Amino acid sequence: MTRLGVALAILAGFSAAQALADDGKALFAAKGCTACHGESGAKPIAGSPVLASQNADYLARQMTEIADGTRASGPVKVMKPVIAKTSPEERKALAQWLAGQKPADPQTGDKAKAEKGADLFEENGCIGCHGADGLKPLADYPFLAAQRRDYLMVQIKAIRDEIRSTRRARLMVANVRKLSDAQIEQVAEFLSQTKRK
Ligand code: HEC
Ligand code: HEC
Repeated sequence: MTRLGVALAILAGFSAAQALADDGKALFAAKGCTACHGESGAKPIAGSPVLASQNADYLARQMTEIADGTRASGPVKVMKPVIAKTSPEERKALAQWLAGQKPADPQTGDKAKAEKGADLFEENGCIGCHGADGLKPLADYPFLAAQRRDYLMVQIKAIRDEIRSTRRARLMVANVRKLSDAQIEQVAEFLSQTKRK
């Protein structure tokens, strides 16, 4: 390829990425996602997760697995019909745009419980896949820091009890099985109070 050709290809790549991000923003509003997840995915209503600044590959996979019923734990039923009406390209655009949004502020809560949760997060090997303080996930795994407390509690229990039992969720069953409900609450306190960098 000539130099000009390379330059044009790079420019086209940039504008394609920009167009995808613009589509994501428009789709998020048009498909009604904002009703539950908040305007930029950072201010969800109770029970719904923060999506802003989440790992793009993780988000895209969740959308597909929720749409096709692979991830079918209780509360997710409310959004299945909504996400089922998006195409794979639209999901990619949504995921890419959401990943670039400003993360949610950490929640305030019980400091003593959070400290116990921090120890549990380390002792049970969560760090190996989600990174110290849930801030540095491997590959297409999720960030956990500054996620909503109520959502985290529901998910950890659902993964432990194999209700949310996708292929990747099963990777962590041995780790979460060691946690009691009270300990899950402590871990959720810790993660929800941790600031995203
Ligand atoms: C009626 C409310 C509602 C609407 C509308 C909705 N969602 Fe959700 N969404 C939820 C709830 C509740 C969950 C968590 C389900 C659970 O507990 O398993 C969720 C989970 C998700 C997840 C998984 C996040 C994670 O951390 O694993 C993604 C991604 C997502 N929604 C994207 C979207 C997109 C994109 C749209 C619009 C096309 C949308 N949602 C519309 C309520 C909603
Ligand atoms: C072997 C790697 C691994 C370990 C260890 C691990 N996880 Fe995970 N975790 C994952 C993967 C992969 C997912 C995404 C599952 C999916 O795609 O459905 C996940 C998902 C989660 C979620 C759901 C996030 C969301 O947005 O819905 C929570 C909460 C979570 N892990 C907490 C923990 C805790 C707490 C521990 C320690 C007790 C832990 N994980 C240990 C790999 C791991």
